[in-house]
Amino acid sequence: MDRTLLSATAKALVAPGKGLLAADESAGTCAKRFAAAGVADSEEMRRTYREMLFTTPAMKSTISGVILHDETIRQQHSSGQSFADYLNSIGVIPGIKVDGGTRDLAMAPGELVTDGLDGLQKRMKEYFAMGARFAKWRAVITIGEAIPTSRCIWANAHALARYAAICQEANIIPVVEPEVLLDGDHSIDRCFDVTEAMLRTMMSQLADNKVSIEHTILKASMVLSGKDAKNRASQAEVGARTVEVLKRTIPAAMPGIVFLSGGQSDIDSAAHLNEMNKPGVREGNPWPLTFSYSRALHFAALKVWRGKPENYKAAQNAFAHRCKMNSLAAKGKWTIESESAAK
Ligand code: 13P
Repeated sequence: MDRTLLSATAKALVAPGKGLLAADESAGTCAKRFAAAGVADSEEMRRTYREMLFTTPAMKSTISGVILHDETIRQQHSSGQSFADYLNSIGVIPGIKVDGGTRDLAMAPGELVTDGLDGLQKRMKEYFAMGARFAKWRAVITIGEAIPTSRCIWANAHALARYAAICQEANIIPVVEPEVLLDGDHSIDRCFDVTEAMLRTMMSQLADNKVSIEHTILKASMVLSGKDAKNRASQAEVGARTVEVLKRTIPAAMPGIVFLSGGQSDIDSAAHLNEMNKPGVREGNPWPLTFSYSRALHFAALKVWRGKPENYKAAQNAFAHRCKMNSLAAKGKWTIESESAAK
């Protein structure tokens, strides 16, 4: 394990004012998002879309790393350069999603577990050779009347820890992502309790599996009311409760924490991150807090692009705008006025 390389990668991923671009949607997810935006789906369209994002000039100043899908890390920029080499050439670290998606957890109705540990050691070596320096594994926790069960939490935490150890052995920074879903009508308190249980169990599993916390990045979901809840918590409350649960469970040794957007609106995703980084709060945070968004960074751009070459530049502008807004939020300098002022 090359601690010097791993430390340098982790530090660069959470550099001030920068965050991660999650562009690792599977072909199936891409097909759904493309259909919603009226874009015909094909491997070449997915390549073109990713190239549109990666060549947006604002990437250099706002994005530290990109999470790629297996298909994309094997694809090339129009110049013939691999996407991983292209990203490196602009100072952006290539990363790779290595989980195999979720499946039903046996004997546990409504609960999921993530696949992908089989053969992972071998694949990880190949990804390192292709230029990946960090990886992502997403576990999914659903809130319902009698779920999540402790068995589901444990199974997902254990898989995250096994994955993280494999990453570090291959000198790749593990991004561990236990996503507590927004779906449901639960209260913010219920989300807090589930998130706390998940994070506690995950930290214990990471320790049991000899994972170095100093070389691990958490990709967390925010503590939110369910999307169908009647009285949804305010932006200030979401920021405060999220920081509270992280302080309770995540050691200061962790080099940084990034967030997924998870179906929140673009504005909420920026506002909530800003709440956690604003003056008076950020001084008390032991770790940098930044974004690792997919939808809240580039769904707006997809809707502008619609697969048409004449919309390419306007789509890049839409993406650049969200990059800049979330970069401001990572510094605690975002305001609702900046949304229109910067356009
Ligand atoms: P969203 O920001 O759209 O939730 O996606 C982030 C991600 O990488 C989920 O695994």
